[in-house]
Amino acid sequence: MSPKEFRIAAIPADGVGREVVEAGKTVLDAIEADGGGRFAFAWEEFPWGSDYFAEHGRMMAEDGLETLQAFDAIYFGAVGWPTVPDHVSLWGLRLAICQGFDQWANLRPVRFLPGIESPLRKADRTDLDWVVVRENSEGEYAGFGGHTFASREGRGEVAVQSALFTEVGCERIIKYAFELARTRPRKKVSSVTKSNAQQYGMVLWDRVFQRVAADYPDVETESVLVDAMSAKFVLQPEELSVVVASNLFADILSDLGSALAGSLGLAPSANLNPERRFPSMFEPVHGSAPDIAGQGVCNPIGAFGSAAMMLDHFGLKAEAEGLDAAIEAATAQGIRTRDVGGTAKTAEVTEAVIANLPARRQS
Ligand SMILES: NC(=O)c1ccc[n+]([C@@H]2O[C@H](COP(=O)([O-])OP(=O)(O)OC[C@H]3O[C@@H](n4cnc5c(N)ncnc54)[C@H](O)[C@@H]3O)[C@@H](O)[C@H]2O)c1
Repeated sequence: MSPKEFRIAAIPADGVGREVVEAGKTVLDAIEADGGGRFAFAWEEFPWGSDYFAEHGRMMAEDGLETLQAFDAIYFGAVGWPTVPDHVSLWGLRLAICQGFDQWANLRPVRFLPGIESPLRKADRTDLDWVVVRENSEGEYAGFGGHTFASREGRGEVAVQSALFTEVGCERIIKYAFELARTRPRKKVSSVTKSNAQQYGMVLWDRVFQRVAADYPDVETESVLVDAMSAKFVLQPEELSVVVASNLFADILSDLGSALAGSLGLAPSANLNPERRFPSMFEPVHGSAPDIAGQGVCNPIGAFGSAAMMLDHFGLKAEAEGLDAAIEAATAQGIRTRDVGGTAKTAEVTEAVIANLPARRQS
């Protein structure tokens, strides 16, 4: 039997992004080795990021999107380094890929892992598990705006940044959230806006939410303002299952979620083009963490969870579940990096997760 080959473009980019992508590749190679020749991962690594910018004056190759189009998926680290302004690095690479490939659904599960202490006391006695579904193509990150009058004297420069909400954009992400809710034990969607103050775009979002909800009578719903939702994340997280929000709000809320689960380093994510016209991109939620980069101490769990989401996207469901179970087994054994109260290095967590993969655990 010739193996099904999945072509993966690795873009480690900057800082700890490089360390977690290397760790993730090591785990995926082990999963391939355990696969009995049924599937294979063909990797190609791209050196894009802030060092590339220093040499070439751009964050990725000019024909970068064309090149990536040929891959089944992109495995991304993190972008951003103090040598390049953050808006230049983010727009030049990560957002260029997300928007160029219409990866309009960003899934960010909030997972509480055994052996990892949450700052929420409630987490000790309550099963907590929810997914933030982030609108990933427009909203506050549509890139609309400009600045002018820089030459005016007396601090006269002005800047305008507009949010863009389209009916099509709202509808597809909200429908996605409802479909996802149907697959979960608690069939509930919480919609998050700030439509009392943002009276145009977010009122449109609310209207679309109500219209779509009518097609899913089996799914519970609620509409919550973002300020109230941030309190709810802390005070009533057991009430959450699928939380759908705009690009900016979901970005912020998912960081809050991963901090509640114990660390930013734990959170996985998938930037999906659900129609599969373009490759989807899998990356940990965290950034390049310049404060700890290069020390071999960063937490690779978010990158491993993202790899599991990539396996699921490939249709390798058993392998995805096996990897998630191996992550849980490793944390339950107390093998933890510094950010979650342990002393293990990135490489030790990687070894522990590999040792807990289903094929190896039994042997
Ligand atoms: N998706 C992305 O590529 C992405 C996301 C967020 C920030 N950034 C960029 O990253 C750079 C740093 O941003 P920041 O400091 O605001 O956010 P950050 O996520 O890099 O770091 C925030 C804090 O979390 C810790 N942390 C992050 N990842 C960790 C990991 N895997 N293990 C252990 N601890 C971890 C860091 O040490 C730091 O204390 C900036 O240039 C920013 O633009 C990129």
